[in-house]
Amino acid sequence: MKILGIETSCDETAASVVEDGTNMLSNEIASQVEIHARYGGIVPEVASRQHTLSIIPIIKAAMKKANVEWQDLAAIAVTNGPGLAGSLLTGVNVAKAICLAQNLPLVGVNHLEGHMYANWLTGNTLEFPLICLIVSGGHSDIVLMKGHGDYILLGRTRDDAAGEAFDKAARLLGLGYPGGPVIQKAAESGKINIPLPKSWIKGTNDFSFSGIKSSLLRMVTEDKNINKNDVAASFQAAIVDVLVTKTIDVAQEYNAKQVLLAGGVAANKHLRQTLTERSPFPVIIPPFILCTDNAAMIAACGYFRFRAGKISSLDLDVIPNMKLA
Ligand code: KG4
Ligand code: ZN
Repeated sequence: MKILGIETSCDETAASVVEDGTNMLSNEIASQVEIHARYGGIVPEVASRQHTLSIIPIIKAAMKKANVEWQDLAAIAVTNGPGLAGSLLTGVNVAKAICLAQNLPLVGVNHLEGHMYANWLTGNTLEFPLICLIVSGGHSDIVLMKGHGDYILLGRTRDDAAGEAFDKAARLLGLGYPGGPVIQKAAESGKINIPLPKSWIKGTNDFSFSGIKSSLLRMVTEDKNINKNDVAASFQAAIVDVLVTKTIDVAQEYNAKQVLLAGGVAANKHLRQTLTERSPFPVIIPPFILCTDNAAMIAACGYFRFRAGKISSLDLDVIPNMKLA
């Protein structure tokens, strides 16, 4: 069963064909990173306009690469939230138009659920119950998954998301955008030797990353000659320590069979390595390209939703603040 996935929730225009929710036949991504880099962050209006330019060529490329025609598809899966309204609208309207013209079922997919399903494209057998840490530009969630489509949100950030913290820290250090990859790079030449506050919020599974950001701001304002690489390494280590410790604690509490990592920050090498080393449970992490936004994860998730009969009507709307559970 082949599903075409479409993803336009933020600044990547993406389309992919996935077979049976696990076999990726194509994965095309038009990144807008360079366009937004000059503004130091995503400009929503620019993102929507860019999506309208890229979406058709990207879908055509994904279909061609997978060597499929419309009649080979079982359904079209599209992200309808959370994300930027204008960006989401491009993908959702294009998906609806194709479904109407080609008489195909439409499946709306939650972007965060999609991130989790990137793990189904790794070739591993997944076992429930599992704990997934979703860390992206907008979310830092610890989710208990008891079965397909069955989620309980056990922890979340109370202020900044992990990716947002990386982006803001990089801006404070003048390292550029997006923050995650540039902090990671700087950290490679730095030492973990600067004490930074770790917010444990004891007794909860929640995160908070605004305190560490304020400390960083104070530090760079007070000491203009501070070693940026050391700051980056210390900052990255502090964030990773909190993410990994809390995730393992929750996995222990809920007797998880496996621990999954998902979202753009899952591309962070230090996080991947630390979680793998410290977790007593088997850890599954998608390859780098499937951590950041892509449409293969949407097609994979769409397959399991479609199989469960969760088909959307053609009046599917975008939900910019859509929740997972
Ligand atoms: O999932 P994603 O591509 O988009 C959202 O759904 O938000 O995540 C983007 C976030 C950005 O904040 C970016 O800085 C972060 O993921 N990111 C990283 C790395 N690569 C991307 N954070 C840390 N280390 C990385 N290597
Ligand atoms: Zn994302």
